[in-house]
Amino acid sequence: MAGPAERAPAAITIAPSLLACDFARLRDEIAMVEAAGADWLHVDVMDGHFVPNLTIGPPVVAAIHQAATKPLDVHLMITDPWQYADAFLDAGAAVLTFHLEVAERGDAQQLIERIRGRGAKAGMAINPDADVQQLRPFLPHLDMVLVMSVFPGFGGQRFMPAVLDNVRALRGPLGFSGLIEMDGGIAPDTIGACAAAGTDVFVAGTAVFAAPDVPARIAELRRLAATARG
Ligand code: DX5
Ligand code: ZN
Repeated sequence: MAGPAERAPAAITIAPSLLACDFARLRDEIAMVEAAGADWLHVDVMDGHFVPNLTIGPPVVAAIHQAATKPLDVHLMITDPWQYADAFLDAGAAVLTFHLEVAERGDAQQLIERIRGRGAKAGMAINPDADVQQLRPFLPHLDMVLVMSVFPGFGGQRFMPAVLDNVRALRGPLGFSGLIEMDGGIAPDTIGACAAAGTDVFVAGTAVFAAPDVPARIAELRRLAATARG
């Protein structure tokens, strides 16, 4: 596996979270945020069990896929990704991420292989209180690690700076050379530290959809991440 020194940085990827959009105007919101410069569309799937909130399922993800031109980055905050992975892949997920916190409920390695076998990128997410070392056996097989910077379940929460240590551990001692995504409270005042630590993919819900000028906000986030990377 390539060590951190050998890793060419991946492109800065801005992934607006549709959780913060106006769901009654989903098609318009997708078109707006794509025209504004989004690279991926982040789709938050919650089952009311892994997290205390419910959002959307495969039919709505398929409708988003119909309306979108950018890759769908589907974040499964669900207890049983084995049961639903194929449905979300059928619905058009280009990146499919499940949580380390449920990994022992089934064969995580087999799930990663199933996702990649369908031509999608496979990701694993870790909550802010997880031990990042527990990702070690999976890292050689993962395209992406999602480092949560809030506890999952709701948009609009405060960024937790302590999780930057998880990114540093992945890029340093753990030698992970795939994509690192951060999700939760990413905004102009937090994105620089995430980029400097080694993050490539930046999820932003509130910071994008509540901005008065969405194209300017996405450009600002991209510029701040690029500057912090050096
Ligand atoms: C939280 C979700 C996030 C959320 C981010 O459970 O995984 O993707 O939408 O929203 P902001 O950017 O508002 O923190
Ligand atoms: Zn998310």
